[in-house]
Amino acid sequence: MTKIEKVGSFESKITVYVVVCWVLAACGGLMFGYDIGISGGVTAMDDFLIKFFPAVYQRKLRAKEDNYCKYDNQYLQLFTSSLYLAALISSFAASKMCSKLGRKPTIFVASAFFLCGSLLSAAAQRIWMIILARVLLGVGVGFGNEAVPLFLSEIAPVQHRGAVNILFQLFITIGILFANLVNYGASKIHPWGWRLSLGLASLPAAFLFVGSVVIIETPASLVERNQESQGLSTLKKIRGVEDVDAEFEHIKMACEAAREVKDPFKTLMKRSSMPPLIIGVMMQVFQQFTGINAIMFYAPVLFQTVGFKNDASLLSSVITGLVNVFSTLVSIYGVDRVGRRKLLLQACVQMFISQTAIGAILLVHLKGSNSLDEGLAGLVVVLVCLFVMSFAWSWGPLGWLIPSETFPLEIRTSGFACAVSSNMLFTFIIAQAFLSMMCHMRAFIFFFFAAWIVAMGLFVLFLLPETKNVPIDAMVERVWKQHPVWKRFMDDYDGKEDVKNVGMII
Ligand code: BGC
Repeated sequence: MTKIEKVGSFESKITVYVVVCWVLAACGGLMFGYDIGISGGVTAMDDFLIKFFPAVYQRKLRAKEDNYCKYDNQYLQLFTSSLYLAALISSFAASKMCSKLGRKPTIFVASAFFLCGSLLSAAAQRIWMIILARVLLGVGVGFGNEAVPLFLSEIAPVQHRGAVNILFQLFITIGILFANLVNYGASKIHPWGWRLSLGLASLPAAFLFVGSVVIIETPASLVERNQESQGLSTLKKIRGVEDVDAEFEHIKMACEAAREVKDPFKTLMKRSSMPPLIIGVMMQVFQQFTGINAIMFYAPVLFQTVGFKNDASLLSSVITGLVNVFSTLVSIYGVDRVGRRKLLLQACVQMFISQTAIGAILLVHLKGSNSLDEGLAGLVVVLVCLFVMSFAWSWGPLGWLIPSETFPLEIRTSGFACAVSSNMLFTFIIAQAFLSMMCHMRAFIFFFFAAWIVAMGLFVLFLLPETKNVPIDAMVERVWKQHPVWKRFMDDYDGKEDVKNVGMII
């Protein structure tokens, strides 16, 4: 146990139990990350292509024809993207389950789907089996990504909420790195290395499975479902102190308002719900249009495009994976100190510079079948690392954090479900379209992403309020009603925030 911390009238300690809960729940991130990272490497493995995508393999053999287009195949992209489509659809069911039955059982269901999906993908014999396995994994992602960030935000003490929530993203990046390393090793095992790559996803799935049994339900979810005394004892347990009255009152008020809402999706359409909804959805659109997943899914393919051999390209994706993990730590440190807005804006500048520079190098030096000379290819890897670095301390984690902390409780699960499904929709679009876009737009694809980065910078500048250190159930009073643009939307807000506590946390 640590010393007691006091913020406003909320007291808390960091207890061993709560740390265990955070880590286990964040394994949901591990699973998601593994799924993101594994597909690119697997689709670059010849054995995998020969078994399921012989046409792509043939084209790859004739690769000298055109570097930008050798992987352009709708089925191959469907292998990657089907997961996100399934996640998109299932996140709505997950939101219902999350509010009716709680965060804990939702995480349990996620892990069960993850386990089935990873075993089936390792054993797949036909293309439909491999796609079905991706769909099962996708349902897992839909349930996991809905419940885990909410779970983390709700059990975190207010002053650490940002950092705790970013555990989810940290585990995503560890999952991606783990997948990159596995791919690097498995690509040398013929002809079944890809089975190992896909099957090892059952490891994080098993962690999450165990985690979902061990974790407790969040106090907010218990109170929301009329289990007040359990909610109170859970709050004492996770805060490690006896005096949790102020915080409990806060949760109860938010829950009262939540209970009055019969149809959360309808309430979500009210004017006063628009500010967090627009922000939650736009954060996802922007997160995906940074172009991050063009790199995460297809880094090995991309590095082959600029002329690396199989091995070197897989190794380069291990390097970007490492950069991704370590830069996320910066965010954990900075988010509750520096604040959300500064991190996002700084990253826009760095991402813009790297995307335009990559585009310019490829435009000038990579003509059709040629590859870059060694120095330039190395420079592209450095630029990709700079890009990944800035994404990892900003749009990556904050894309999940901001929507999980800005909706009032009465629309938190439904609002967050919209954010998750938008993320999945745009991830799906990028996964399905990137290889074809690269084939048609060539180097200009990087300028396309750079233009989006300008748009998102302006969005943050004018429309995104700072939410650092604002209690999760005081967002309406402290944030939305104070913002020059969004306050105009708040006239029909009839929820009950604890205005007494609202002023206390600076
Ligand atoms: C995004 C993923 C992305 C990952 C990269 C996550 O926040 O949602 O789409 O692949 O970050 O680390």
